[in-house]
Amino acid sequence: TVLRGAAISGSLRRASANTGLIRAGLQIDHVDISDLPLLNTDLEAAAGAFPLAVEAFRDKVRGADCFLFASPEYNYSISGPLKNALDWASRPPNRWGDRAAAILSASGGSGGDRSQYHIRHVGVALGIHFVIKPEVFTKAHQLPRKFDDDGNLVDPETREQVRKLLLALQAFALKLQGKSADSE
Ligand code: FNR
Repeated sequence: TVLRGAAISGSLRRASANTGLIRAGLQIDHVDISDLPLLNTDLEAAAGAFPLAVEAFRDKVRGADCFLFASPEYNYSISGPLKNALDWASRPPNRWGDRAAAILSASGGSGGDRSQYHIRHVGVALGIHFVIKPEVFTKAHQLPRKFDDDGNLVDPETREQVRKLLLALQAFALKLQGKSADSE
């Protein structure tokens, strides 16, 4: 079964470790959020429509069977760019609902556990269903380095964890789709 996944990195840095985690999950398309404007609902009201970049992003979210989020932790929470993207696609009609998602994080300190739990919290408002395990918290700056200078994930153990998480995401997404088909 081929699922259409959308992967979103919460870091806009060229050599981002989080974007590197997404590249390690080969089969999922990376959806770039760097051209989204900062959320301002005046932008919708003035034109009677969403800005073009926002509309394109919302379409990609709507078309995906599942989501993969990779976010650094910024001051114990979700990254600003990722929250901005989550908010834009939540504007009515909400584009996130009833899909499965998994979370990866590369961060300093603990590896991003606090940011992951904040993403789950926001996901409650959006109707996203999260895979619970395996939890993948990556310490981006620990030695020996898990990422090369371009942000590519070079640590075999972490690559294996990413692979396991994606398998869990695929299984959960299929289960969720089966359930909604039964109830129709
Ligand atoms: C950070 N970083 C960070 N790390 C952490 O573990 N806990 C934290 O609260 C913070 N806070 C924080 C705030 C801000 C504004 C920045 C810029 C950074 C470190 C950060 O998560 C780390 O450098 C990640 O590796 C960055 O991810 P990318 O850009 O490599 O994907």
